[in-house]
Amino acid sequence: MSTVALVPGSFDPFHNGHLEVVERAAKLFDEVVVAALRNPQKSTQLFDLEERQEMIAESLAHLPTVRIVSVSTLLVNVAKDVNASAIVKGLRVVTDFESELQMAQMNRQLSGVETLFIPTSSTFSFVASRLLREVSRYHGDVSAFVPPAVNRRLIEKFGAPNP
Ligand code: PNS
Repeated sequence: MSTVALVPGSFDPFHNGHLEVVERAAKLFDEVVVAALRNPQKSTQLFDLEERQEMIAESLAHLPTVRIVSVSTLLVNVAKDVNASAIVKGLRVVTDFESELQMAQMNRQLSGVETLFIPTSSTFSFVASRLLREVSRYHGDVSAFVPPAVNRRLIEKFGAPNP
């Protein structure tokens, strides 16, 4: 039976740390499903789910075993729909761990699905969507931290970065 990794996130926007996790998951599983979801803890969103899905698809076009979905539902429902072998998430820093552990335990209680963590490389440990939104909004250059498709959309939204 083929193995399926479900890589969920709010991806608002998708960045190079996310990309690294998907690329590494693609080496470990036969198929990877990337799911852009709403995080009800985060009230403001920069891009809607459809825009996020488009940017992620462009950023992952080089990975033939990866597909993208964007949905407004519980993650465990997506896991069931795509027949996920496991949920895979990146861990950057120790402060990520508490909420990730809680979500992993809740998802396992709800549906039995296991969550596996991939430690992101130190190059990306400080990269967070929240900071990218803030830096872009004030015309900082985030091109080193996001795929070109995402950088383009950020420039469309906020204008070119200051020289
Ligand atoms: O990138 P994030 O914000 O850490 O991702 C969190 C996300 C989107 C995976 C989480 O909020 C989620 O699973 N949302 C879907 C709704 C859901 O299943 N909530 C219960 C989580 S235990």
